[in-house]
Amino acid sequence: MTLIFGHRGAAGTRPENTMISFKEAIRLGADGIELDVHLSKDHIPVVIHDETLDRTTNGSGFVKDYSADEIVRLDASWKFEEYKEEARIPLLKEVLEWASASAEPFIINIELKNNMIEYSGLEEKVINLVKQFELDERVILSSFNHSSMVLALKTEPRIETALLYTDGIYKPYDYARRAGARAIHPLMRTVKNELIDLSRENSISVRPFTVNDEKEMHMLFEWESDGFFTDYPGKAIEIKKSIK
Ligand code: G3P
Ligand code: CA
Repeated sequence: MTLIFGHRGAAGTRPENTMISFKEAIRLGADGIELDVHLSKDHIPVVIHDETLDRTTNGSGFVKDYSADEIVRLDASWKFEEYKEEARIPLLKEVLEWASASAEPFIINIELKNNMIEYSGLEEKVINLVKQFELDERVILSSFNHSSMVLALKTEPRIETALLYTDGIYKPYDYARRAGARAIHPLMRTVKNELIDLSRENSISVRPFTVNDEKEMHMLFEWESDGFFTDYPGKAIEIKKSIK
């Protein structure tokens, strides 16, 4: 079954990586959400895409240079001014607390944004929170930093890891298996039907990103990709229903 993941929540229609965005994705019926995590100055996992605050908030500078208390006070409404009063950067803890209390057992893909900045201890901190809320079975950890995913597996082998990539890796399913990952999350442009078939034969799931084009969504349902990430989960759900 092709699962639909709300990328940064429902980033096409709500301020990305905010509770408003995650709640919208689940309200629409997404099977999972995707979010990005960095560490604050006081080493607390916070949910934001960029290394810096500038693009999506009224703050500026590196996330790593501010305490979590300072970060959560910022306005994260970005281009969606109508959400100015409510859109904040959530702590990972806050998202997991909400997810664990939800009636819907949706999947949470936590992307560790440690490919530019190393964030020592990020894997352990994230894993401890996942365990605290007993979400081991519902979480997928992913990163462009594949060594970090190997470290995550060493820390907690029960939580699924997935390798993100953007280029034409040769036999990525072989590579993923060697790294102990259960899935690959490739850039959509690099994905062909054959990759999905060969990965399946090798017990590796394929979930491309970021799929906002309707034709590509149709293609992935037809190819029976294991899932995909989209800024428009509502659109993906409509297409899925239409082809059932
Ligand atoms: O996890 C899929 C996708 O989110 C990776 O790219 O830049 O949107 O975090 P990016
Ligand atoms: Ca991401």
